[in-house]
This record gives sequence, C-alpha cells and structure tokens, in this order.
Amino acid sequence: MCGIIGYVGERAAVPIVLEGLKRLEYRGYDSAGVAVLTNGSIERRRTAGKVSALGALLAKAPLSGTTALGHTRWATHGSPKEENAHPHSDCTGGLVVIHNGIIENYIELRSDLARRGHRFSSETDTEVVAHWIEEALKRIASPHSPREGESALVQALQAAVKSLRGAYALAVLWNKAPGVIVCAKTASPLVVGLGRDENFLASDAPAFLSHTRRAVYLEDGEIAVLSRERCRLMRFDGTALPCRPVKIPWKRALAEKEGFKHFMLKEIYDQPQAIEDTLRGRVPFSGPSFERETGLASSFLSRLKRARLIGCGTAYHACLVGRYWMESLAGIPAEAETASEFRYRESVMEPGELVIAVSQSGETADTLGAARLARSRGAKVLAVTNCLGSSLSREADFSLYTRCGPELGVASTKAFTGQMSALAVVAARIGLARGMLPRSRASELARAMLALPAAATTALKLDAEILKVARKLRREGHFFYIGRDLNYAVALEGALKLKEISYLHAEGYAGGELKHGPIALIEKGIPVVALATRSRLRDKIQGAVSEVTARGARLIAVQTEGDPPVHGADAILRLPECPEVLAPILAVIPLQLLAYHIADLRGCDVDQPRNLAKSVTVE
Ligand code: AGP
Repeated sequence: MCGIIGYVGERAAVPIVLEGLKRLEYRGYDSAGVAVLTNGSIERRRTAGKVSALGALLAKAPLSGTTALGHTRWATHGSPKEENAHPHSDCTGGLVVIHNGIIENYIELRSDLARRGHRFSSETDTEVVAHWIEEALKRIASPHSPREGESALVQALQAAVKSLRGAYALAVLWNKAPGVIVCAKTASPLVVGLGRDENFLASDAPAFLSHTRRAVYLEDGEIAVLSRERCRLMRFDGTALPCRPVKIPWKRALAEKEGFKHFMLKEIYDQPQAIEDTLRGRVPFSGPSFERETGLASSFLSRLKRARLIGCGTAYHACLVGRYWMESLAGIPAEAETASEFRYRESVMEPGELVIAVSQSGETADTLGAARLARSRGAKVLAVTNCLGSSLSREADFSLYTRCGPELGVASTKAFTGQMSALAVVAARIGLARGMLPRSRASELARAMLALPAAATTALKLDAEILKVARKLRREGHFFYIGRDLNYAVALEGALKLKEISYLHAEGYAGGELKHGPIALIEKGIPVVALATRSRLRDKIQGAVSEVTARGARLIAVQTEGDPPVHGADAILRLPECPEVLAPILAVIPLQLLAYHIADLRGCDVDQPRNLAKSVTVE
C-alpha cells in the first residue's frame, strides 16, 4: 500500500514529511516524492527507490515551505520509476495530487482528458486525477483570494470524485489555495492529526504520532480541509460534519504494524481487504477491465486446450487449488507443478496451452526459469503476481496482479488468498469464454466471491479460540494436516505455515492417502488438523478422521458453521458458509492463525524465520 503524509503549519514542512515517510516505510514501497507549496508555487522532488534516496535528493536540492505532501508508492499502475512517483501534477504544475488506492476507470478518464488536450507524463491512475481536478477548476470562477482559492479547490474536488470509481485516499495542493491541504477518502485509509497551529494528514497514524496523538479518522465519502488553524470535515456533497478527534493509545513501536505484534499477524488480518482489492473491478466477470489489464482476450481464452500452473511453496499450493478450478470451472485439463520440477522435467508442451506462473514476488528464480522455459517452447505465460514491474510480470505474455499490498512477513499469508482469488477469476473467465461455465453459475460464483471479504472477517473472529488450541499444542513435535479435493492444497499450506515459522514437523496429506502408509505414524496424542468444510466429500474426510482418532490422535477440525460436528474432534473451528468451490480461501485462515500462535508462543522469530528469505532469487 502507498504511504501518504501531509503537513500544514508554521514549521519547516519537509523534515516533518520525510520523518513521516520513514515511519510508513514498513508498508513497503518502491518510489517516493515530496511537493511543497510556497510563495504561490509548487515544487516537487521525486525518486525511484527509498526515502533515504529522496532525502539525499532534497539535501542537494532543498525545498522550504510550511505546507507539503509526501508519498511512498507501491506500484500498481506503471513501473517503479521517478516519472511514476507521486506527487503528480496537472498541466499547469500548480496543482499536485498524492493517492493511495486504485482508480478503476482511469483509462476512460484519461482518454476523455486527452481529447481535451491534456498531456500526461506518467502511466499512473493518480496523474489522471490531477488533470481531472484541473478540468473541474476550469468550470469554477477563478479565485481572487486565498479563501476563494480554498473554496474553489473544495468544489473542484467534490466535482471530481463524482467521476472516480474505485478506492482512493487523495490529498491535493493548489498554488491558488496557499496554506491549505484538501483530501478525500473512499475505501483507502486516511487520518488527520490535530496539532497546535499545525495539522497533519496520513494514510496511517504512525506518520505523525511523534507530533500529536489526537486524530480524526476519515470515513468513506468524506472530505477534510486542513489549514494551520483548523480541520474542516464534510461529506462529498458538502454537508458539514463535526470533527471527531480521538486519542491514539498506541505506543509508537506497535503503531509501526498498526497495533499488531508481527507483520505476519497484520497481514493475516489484511486478508479481507486484500481479497476485496484483488477482486475489485474483476467480479462480476463481465467488465472490460479484465481484458484491458491482462491482455487476455476472450477469443484467446476460448481456444485454450489446457492449463499448466507453476509456482513454489505457497504459490504452488495456490496452483493446486487453481488446477481444480481450471477443470471444474473452465472445463479444461490442467496440472499444477512446482516450478523447480517443471523446469528440469522433459515435459511435453502442447499447442493451445496456457502456463500460469504464480509468484508473490515475481522474482523467484525457479518460477522465472520455468516461465522462460515454457515460453521458449511456444507456450503463452500468464503471470499472477503481487509486484508490478517484477521480472515475472515483465517477461510474461499476460499479467494479472493480486492487490495485496506489500507482504513483509516471510511466511506468505494474504498473498495466498490473493492468488486464489485471482485464479478463481481467471478460471471463471476461461469457463465463460469456452461456454463451459453457465452464466447462471457464473453469477452465483460472482456473488459468493464478493461475499468473501466479509466471510474472511468472520473467520478471523476465531483468533481467540485458536490461541487456546495453540496453547495446548505448542509443545507437540509432529502434526498432520489432512484434506481432500480442494482442501488437500489447504492441508499442505497449513503444514507449510507451521513448519516454516515454528520449526515443528508437520505433514500435509490427502485425506484418502493416510491409510496407504502414513497412518503408521499415528499414535496417541498426535495432533491432526482435518479440513472438513462443507463438501460432497465430507463423509470421506470423516472416515479419515475416524481412522486417526481410533488410534488416539488429537483432532482439530475446521468445518462449516451449521454442519454436524465432526465426530471425534477435540476442537472444532467453525467457518462461515461459502460455496464448496471457494472453501480454500476461507479454510486457510484458521490454519495461518494456528501456525502464528504456536510459533509466537514458542518464541520464534515469526516475521523472519531462520534459514528463510522472502523471495528466493537463487535456485
Ligand atoms: C511461503 O510462506 C514461503 N514464504 C515460500 O514458500 C514462498 O511462497 C515461495 O518462496 C514462493 O515465493 P513467491 O510467491 O514470491 O514466488
């Protein structure tokens, strides 16, 4: 996610903004910039890379003034480079915008503006907003005083947001509204910090906590107008609202992770938002944006003969789930394979094959190698990745981005649910293009997918219950995770989570496979986690559960609320209802929390586990 900081007051703004950007670095980013409004003009300094690089740039070319905006960008539209760094300006250079979120209809707006003569210097959706506000200002009488300037800017922002679709937290400076920051919020966080003769604005409170702990959290559909003396709050329609100051209790250290003890836990809790953002504009499966953003035309999808999904670790587990969907939703034969195996196997590629390379970082050496091999053999490659501008996204024929924001914990969590969300969209699109997915079923699936963020939020409410289970299991040495069909991949992922952050041995197994050997390992007290969500195979998993409990296993069952309790379970974790086909997206959440709490109780380094790297860029 991008980081936003704004300052208006009596002090030098740039040092305050730079410090605020440093406090937001944990959010992850790939470029940074500052704009200062002083003496009727706006000047910017922007750079690819880190805030330290921006600081060095400012040391060489300082900016002074008491009103400024700062931004750290996590690239979503346009690769990470100076031209795409915020703040972005309009044609005049007298108005700048910083933004966190996604403007879904920016291409339509950009075309409209280009027809009116606007020229763009970046690939971003944010620059379009700056020109859109500029266009709105043209329809308002030119101001003759700073107060008229403030009023004109507020009116222009009110007019502009009526045309914007998507998620945004915007902050705007205009040289005809000196000493004023105007901001608007929909679906992306924005918080005002109230100081003495100064006010702050940020995407997250840690950016200004060292200056004030009095904050006003903007709600969706609200505009705030900040000056040195005051903060005015209103709805988009101009209805005045009372300021709602709250005192932020956080110790600054915790605030770095928005109050969570570890990045991993924060990212587990980010999942409703990550799923919602990944699905935004892509569900229902009918909008033009999917083909435009991925390059995957329906005519191409309709001719596909098979899909091969490749990835490593957690991304491979997403591939396993995606493989089921390619067959059940898209109606094409599919296989999922670890990239490291695929690239050295004499695999037979066939015409009409789509290789889907899944990678959070887009830099995993094995996945890159496998994608290159596939392309060298004539296959088309779709990259499903979280990092825009990554090697995989640049080398693939097509790209579909998960919109999870930076995942800083080494153990992949929100990237996994984001990958599955993206793969479900791809499978549905192929199914519709091939005429294999009835429109009625596609509509049901779309409705169910749009309900996933709320369902994931409900699943997270199991946290306290899971902590109790973790306390009982923290000293165990061996775990089994069992699941069938789509939940087999979830069993593998649950075991991987536990292994990589608690250093305990865990095996994920297909529920039907235990009796073919591994059941010899089951003895009294061994913990077995069974994925028993509502499914046509639930009785089968009950059978596997009976096999292990009969031999003394301690059974933790993950099941669907409302279903009869899994017989023999010592603990039951109940998930909200969702269609069987989407179960993995919810079922993994309790397993992530179980692994997290066991590792934390064992005093492990949850965010940076031993021997592991976030992105394995070597073979
Ligand atoms: C999962 O928790 C691990 N961090 C690891 O297995 C990871 O999923 C794998 O290395 C692939 O990374 P990628 O998604 O960036 O390609």
